[in-house]
Order: sequence, then structure tokens, then C-alpha cells
Amino acid sequence: MRWQEYRELAAGLESIEDFWRFAYSRFARAQIDCSQGYQTPKAEAAALLARRLNLEPEELPDWTRARLSPAERETVLAAFFQREILRRPTAYILQEAWFAGLRFYVDERVLIPRSLLEPFIEAGFAPWLQADRVARILEIGTGSGCMAVALAQRFPQAAVDAVDVSADALAVAALNVAAHGLEERIRLLQSDLFAALAGQRYDLIVSNPPYVDAAAMAALPPEYCHEPRLALAAGADGLDCLLPLLREAPAYLQPGGILALETGDAEEALLTQHPEFPLIWLEHPAGGYGACVLLAES
Ligand SMILES: C[S@@+](CC[C@H](N)C(=O)[O-])C[C@H]1O[C@@H](n2cnc3c(N)ncnc32)[C@H](O)[C@@H]1O
Repeated sequence: MRWQEYRELAAGLESIEDFWRFAYSRFARAQIDCSQGYQTPKAEAAALLARRLNLEPEELPDWTRARLSPAERETVLAAFFQREILRRPTAYILQEAWFAGLRFYVDERVLIPRSLLEPFIEAGFAPWLQADRVARILEIGTGSGCMAVALAQRFPQAAVDAVDVSADALAVAALNVAAHGLEERIRLLQSDLFAALAGQRYDLIVSNPPYVDAAAMAALPPEYCHEPRLALAAGADGLDCLLPLLREAPAYLQPGGILALETGDAEEALLTQHPEFPLIWLEHPAGGYGACVLLAES
């Protein structure tokens, strides 16, 4: 559908309530994918509508009967069109996403934050680590920098190295590190996994690397095609990054340190093809696994 036709469909809409219902019904019927930061079509409709009107989504119910100005109609409808017809994720349209309760700038240069490691970062990787004893942290594949920032806040005494192979991603991470005032504590480096880190040792290494296998890449919802392929694709079995991380990390860990890895659906390939790694699987509070830790020798 073209933009002009979409505008005509919305010709009779006037109030916030009208626009919210319109987007909600159309998003639900179009079966948009809601796994990139918002849980339901209704929540995505509310976020787009509210943020385009400079409101918070939870404020919409106070204003349901308010009418949109002509300029507001255009900007709101353009956001709905991008979401429904172009399948652009809401986080990219709004250029904002949340991780560990913190706001981040995002655009198509980085993955939209949604790591299974989030609750374990918030818990400070207890019981394996004591926050006041963690002096150096490494994050591999930092993307938007969301995990590096959350780690710096959770471990206030630690210095954080955050690496990515993508210069584009590092440019976005730099914006977020600066927005959170953490330039003194987070060092951003371009590195292919550990390549630029010779001789370094860390108490905690964290990574949410690419781990989508070839079959799953071919079946991704259209929304995921807006994300960098480099952030998702990891070869035939999804292990292209996970295996080198598991093999090389021990040489970069302090005695008593830990590696925390998100594996997602590559968990099964790892378990069946590589039982040699002594992994401790982390049960997510919402159920299921998909993340693990590897303990360095003390
Ligand atoms: C799944 S994203 C994770 C981004 C961010 N940590 C998050 O959780 O939202 C994976 C990131 O790893 C980066 N990456 C891919 N291959 C890499 C490699 N060989 N070395 C370093 N980073 C890599 C990608 O550019 C991408 O930013």
C-alpha cells in the first residue's frame, strides 16, 4: 500500500482514541512482530502515538478525546505507515529503547536491546560475583552499548571495555555512553572478538553475540531484516561467535572470574555438539534458558 492510500484510509479519524484504535486494529490484523521491545500491537500503537505527540504512553488515557492538529495527524500517520506497511520496528521509528530501566538511542546501525542477560546483569551475577570485588569488565559485541552502560551502573567500581567489530555500532555506543555520562569508565574499542585485547584480564566478560543459525535467518520476520545482519547471523549452526568466545575467554579471565554468554536458540547446538564446555545454564525469570556462565579456575 502507498502512503497516499494510507492517509485516505485515516481520513475520518479525529481524536487520540480514534488514532489509537485505528493503529491497534491494523497492527493486529497485519500480525506485526512484537518481539523487539514491545509486547503487543496495542503497546506499539500506544508508544508510536504518544511519543509522536510528546506524551508518555501511560498518559494517553487522560487525553483520549483530544483532537490532533493537521501537523500531528501527518507525523502520527507516517509513524503508523512505517510500522505497519514497511515493518520498521517501533524502536527505530522512535530512535529509543530501554534496557535495565535505562533509555538508549538506537537506529538501524545496532540491534534493538532485548538481551536474555538483562535480569542477571541487574542481579550483579550473584552468587558468582561480589560487586565490590569486580574491577574490570569486558563486553564483547556491545552494539548500542546498552549492556556496557547497565554493567557500569551495576558495578560502580569497575572499568568497562566494550568492543564491537562494527564501527557503525561503536558510533551509536559512543552516543549512549556520553548520554549516561560514563566516558571516564567505559572504553570503546573496535575489535574482532578478543583480537585487540592481547594481555588483558577481566573479572567479568559478558557477551550477547550473534547466534542465529542459517535456517532461522531465512525465516526471520520482516522486522528483523531492519537490524544489522552482523548482529544476528552466526553461520550454519549459530555457533560462529559462541565457540571462539568459549574457547578464548579463559585466557582473558582473572582467577575466579566468569564469562556470561547469551546463546538463545543456539543452546541446543552447543549442548549436543559441544558437551566439553562446563556451562552453568541460567534460568530466566520468565521461564526457559538461553544464557549461561562459564567459571574461570580460582
Ligand atoms: C546480538 S548484537 C548485541 C548487541 C548488544 N550487546 C545488545 O545486547 O543489544 C551482537 C553484536 O556483536 C557484534 N559482533 C558481531 N561479530 C563480532 C565479532 N566478531 N567481534 C566483535 N563484535 C561482533 C555485532 O556488530 C553486534 O553489535
